[in-house]
Amino acid sequence: MKTINFTVNGRNYKLDVKDNEILLDVLREKLHFTGAKEGCGEGECGACTVIMDGKAVTSCIILAVEADGSDIETIEGQSVGEEISDIQEAFIEENAIQCGFCTPGMVMSTKALLDRNPDPSDEDIDIALSGNICRCTGYYSIRNAVKRAAEKKGGSQS
Ligand code: FES
Ligand code: FES
Repeated sequence: MKTINFTVNGRNYKLDVKDNEILLDVLREKLHFTGAKEGCGEGECGACTVIMDGKAVTSCIILAVEADGSDIETIEGQSVGEEISDIQEAFIEENAIQCGFCTPGMVMSTKALLDRNPDPSDEDIDIALSGNICRCTGYYSIRNAVKRAAEKKGGSQS
């Protein structure tokens, strides 16, 4: 066991974790941030994506001990009460959600992208979301949602 300290959605947590415990399980089972999903469990589908120190990461292949001292953002931190984020709004407006299983991961990858590049090209979007698999909507609506989110945030005007 090791004691880790980290921040999730702006709040500090101190937890005892096993050496082989993965970050996704700690977030979901110990802290009850259940928005990040377990799809493949192998770093391939992106359903478990959260932001760690500004970077989108697949939390199913990160050990909780690796998150010691880090700053984590999850989908739960993207809305305040009833108020959802520009990115979440854009996904709804562009019909980029069907079953919703991939959506928390898509939104977090989008946030990491727009935080570092407020005006992404189609190629930038495709690269940033290349690790996020959606079995429902097809990727055009998702790309449009990212562009719309960029517009809402004052980036791309095209
Ligand atoms: S569950 Fe983590 S990448 Fe698929
Ligand atoms: S909306 Fe169902 S997997 Fe993407």
